Amino acid sequence: MYSKEEIDTLNERFAAASPQEVLRSFMTQFGDRLALSSSLSIEDQTLTDMMVQIDANVRIFTLDTGRLFPETYNLIDDTNHHYNIHLEVYSPQAEPLQDFVREHGINPFYDSIELRHACCQVRKLEPLKRAFRGLEAWVCGLRHGQSVTRGAMRLVEWDEVHGMLKINPLINWDEAQVWAYIKEHRVPYNELHDKGYTSIGCEPCTRAVRHIDDIRAGRWWWENPDHRECGLHRR
Ligand code: ADX
Ligand code: SF4
Repeated sequence: MYSKEEIDTLNERFAAASPQEVLRSFMTQFGDRLALSSSLSIEDQTLTDMMVQIDANVRIFTLDTGRLFPETYNLIDDTNHHYNIHLEVYSPQAEPLQDFVREHGINPFYDSIELRHACCQVRKLEPLKRAFRGLEAWVCGLRHGQSVTRGAMRLVEWDEVHGMLKINPLINWDEAQVWAYIKEHRVPYNELHDKGYTSIGCEPCTRAVRHIDDIRAGRWWWENPDHRECGLHRR
C-alpha cells in the first residue's frame, strides 16, 4: 500500500524522466514482481520493445478473451518471434464462460451495459486476477490523449481496485510520438491500424473509425463515451 504522499513523490521524481528511465527504475526495484499488461496496442508494443531491451526476461502478459481479431492473434506470435520471448497468455476459465454463454447467448454485449460488463468480467477481469498473482506492480500503455475517461490518470498510481502499483510510462506521450517510436525501431504492430482501426480490443466490440478526434471512438461505440471502460482501469 502506497500513501497519497508517496505516490505524489514518485510522480514528482519522474516528472521529467523518459519512459525508459521510468521502466528501468521500476523494473530494477520489482524484478519479476512487475509485469507489462499488453493488449498488443501500439503503446504496449512500444513498451514491450523498451522493456525487452532493459531485461530480456521481463514479464509480459496478455488477456486472450477468445474474441480477439485474427490480426491480433497473429501479432502475438509475431511479437514472440521478433523478440524471442513468450508472452504469458491468460484465457478465460472454460466452465464459467460456458455457463455465461449458455445463459446469455454468444453476443450478449449489445443488449445492455450490464451484460457487456459481465462479458468483460468473465473474459478479461477474472483472467487478469490470475495474471496478477505474485505481482506488486503492473505497467500499462495508458495515455491522457486516449479518451475522456483517461485525462486525470497519472504516471504512477496506487491502483486501489487491485491493490497494486500501476505505472503508465507513456501517459504524456501523444499518438504521433508512439508511431514515431514504432517506425524508428521497426516494432511489429497490428495491421488493422493500416485499415482505419485506432484502438483495438475484442472483434465484436471494436470498429474502424473515420476521424480520430477520439481514438477510442471505435470501442463499444454504441455506449456513452463517459463509460467506455472495461473495468481494467476503474478508479
Ligand atoms: S481497455 O479499455 O481495453 O482496457 P485499451 O485497449 O485502451 O483499454 O488498453 C489500455 C491498457 O489496458 C493497455 O495498454 C494494457 O496495458 C491494458 N489492456 C487492455 N486490454 C488488455 C488485454 N487484452 N490484455 C492485457 N492488457 C490489456
Ligand atoms: Fe466481451 Fe466485448 Fe468485453 Fe470482449 S470487449 S470481453 S467481447 S464485452
